[in-house]
Amino acid sequence: MHAPHRKFPTLASLSASQIAAIRTIPPHGQAAVHTTEARRPVGIFIAPDHYARERAEVFRKVPVAVTLSSMLPEPKMFLALDAYDLPILLSRGEDGQVKAFLNACQHKGAKVVERADAFKGGRVSCPYHAWTYNLAGELAGVPRQEVFPSLDKHEHGLAPLACHEAGGFIWVMLDREAEPDFSAITPNWWAISTPWACPMRTCSATSDSRSMPTGSWSSSLSSRATTCRGCTRLPLAACLPMSPPS
Ligand code: FES
Repeated sequence: MHAPHRKFPTLASLSASQIAAIRTIPPHGQAAVHTTEARRPVGIFIAPDHYARERAEVFRKVPVAVTLSSMLPEPKMFLALDAYDLPILLSRGEDGQVKAFLNACQHKGAKVVERADAFKGGRVSCPYHAWTYNLAGELAGVPRQEVFPSLDKHEHGLAPLACHEAGGFIWVMLDREAEPDFSAITPNWWAISTPWACPMRTCSATSDSRSMPTGSWSSSLSSRATTCRGCTRLPLAACLPMSPPS
């Protein structure tokens, strides 16, 4: 039994555009050799001061995705986490709305919630002296309040952080002084992603790979903030809105 004949393309079987494209290939010996000699200093990925600068100038000034919506699946739930070294407490109210606070007691600054998993409950109680806060972050209970005669509970709620839920993520502004702007975070932000994608379209790590805040979320985005790991030609300012203010 004979093997079937393979069909090899001939000039006659190619289109005019295919032939034209082939004729642009330089002859052997004249091909341009593109070398990749650009180097990025390793410090931009591992230096603590570089990370500290990115954290202060970038990640505390723009909305950051701190967790997946599914990590806080039901009303009346709390979840504590750290985001860029800041202790955060999230709550989902009875109306389903998510709120974010600094996870720091208004009595002496202890972490109100230390456990790392989400849990249900209408209130959380500080482990030190049992000041209690509700889902809205309001100070709801103070044991032996008579020893704090001038305490106004309305003024001692947990410090709120601007918060927004979209696209399956919970976004938080970590800098309470910065103007919150969630306008770029739409329900399908990863699909349109224009502000997040490499404007030069040379970066193979497009918005899709940026959209999953897994364990490497911090490091992958952090290293992108002031340099694009996927493209050594990407100018710093082009990586909007992730680039730091000049
Ligand atoms: S530090 Fe929280 S109740 Fe005292």
